[in-house]
Amino acid sequence: MTAHIHLTEPNPHQTLTLAFPGDGVALRGRVRIPGDKSISHRALMLGAIAQGETRIQGLLLGEDPRSTAACFRAMGVQMSNLEDEWVTVQGVGLGNLQEPADVLDAGNSGTTLRLMLGLLASHPDRFFAVTGDSSLRSRPMGRVIDPLRQMGAQIWGRQGDRQAPLAVRGTTLKPIHYQSPVASAQVKSCLLLAGLMTEGDTTVTEPSLSRDHSERMLRAFGANLSIDPDTCSVTVHGPATLTGQTIVVPGDISSAAFWLVAGAITPGSDLVVENVGINPTRTGILDALQAMEADITLENPREVTGEPVADLRVRYGPLKAAHFGGDLIPRMIDEIPILAIAALFAEGTTVITDAAELRVKECDRLAAMASQLTALGAKVEEAPEGLTIHGQSALKGATVESFGDHRVAMSLAIAALRTEGETVIQRAEAAAVSYPSFVETLERLCGLPSEP
Ligand code: S3P
Repeated sequence: MTAHIHLTEPNPHQTLTLAFPGDGVALRGRVRIPGDKSISHRALMLGAIAQGETRIQGLLLGEDPRSTAACFRAMGVQMSNLEDEWVTVQGVGLGNLQEPADVLDAGNSGTTLRLMLGLLASHPDRFFAVTGDSSLRSRPMGRVIDPLRQMGAQIWGRQGDRQAPLAVRGTTLKPIHYQSPVASAQVKSCLLLAGLMTEGDTTVTEPSLSRDHSERMLRAFGANLSIDPDTCSVTVHGPATLTGQTIVVPGDISSAAFWLVAGAITPGSDLVVENVGINPTRTGILDALQAMEADITLENPREVTGEPVADLRVRYGPLKAAHFGGDLIPRMIDEIPILAIAALFAEGTTVITDAAELRVKECDRLAAMASQLTALGAKVEEAPEGLTIHGQSALKGATVESFGDHRVAMSLAIAALRTEGETVIQRAEAAAVSYPSFVETLERLCGLPSEP
């Protein structure tokens, strides 16, 4: 069969069809990935609430940061076009977000909704209504509402105040020390943002360390933070004053992961993924792929506005199965769907445990990956908190579903590189949440002409 990739027009959804020769196609060349999603949200939000102008280069121009931008614009923050190389945000200063005239829509973005809640709840005398798409409206918000209420926040919502749409009446909060039952950067960041305007010390302790982009960026903007890595605790000493900054956003390791796995599983591949953020709270996927004996090397390590960055070279080579769990999971929480694809082509059985959080992402990613990989002929077992993936079963093309989840859509597209026959991915437009140019880049790396 001749290799081909075809993406339909939106109607309203898009279908991505991929076909490659059975033994796969070699991916070669260099690829520059879009900006880090987590850092992009934080740059827009901290820029919005700081004094003065913030300039951001390399912002992710995907749907999730657009949701953040739309929410803050609706609260009186001026931002330049999210098309340009540099985005500027005119900060209104802490406490000065305006009451929006309409419901704030966080779209598909949990980070937008959860982080923003900390700010809304601490804006006295303003009323806010917030919602999102059907996926976001089904995701748990109690994890941020409970501690915010302990701080005195007034928040109501569906399902016993645990799901959006939510109503918030801002008020003056009091500081707490919150022991989070989950390692979640969204929970931690929500409370740190709530603590910015709160007099006294707001502390969050996590069971293991989640991504620390908020801590790094808050310090860069001038907030006074104490961090204790031994106890996974961080304290914001409020009230803070934030000053606009220049932020250069590194490439997103969560997006790089698709090419790292693509290169590792397709014979003949040799790829360099440029400008990848390698913050140690995010590099679990590199540790995992290295444990599977993937041939990945780090080139040109450097630091860019407080975040470590490098180019990553991946070459094809045989992979070995491994077991993953514990503290490694929060460090690669968004990469488990694509790690499952690597495991399909490894020798032996890969077991992923302690990953129950995947059930409350943009979709239930454990169920989604188990069912859709099974549809392609893989041997995958779903457990309450993980997956067991038997390596080296032959995959056969089928119609599969992304469930509207960007990472599921892109992971299935990478599996298609080593699948015999046609793989048809439904609701493939989801990729634009974090990687709008994913299909074009795949075409280019495979040496296929780009469709108009
Ligand atoms: C994110 C934190 C993670 C991650 C999400 C982005 C962030 O979520 O899955 O994609 O930017 O803080 P949790 O905090 O729910 O683990």
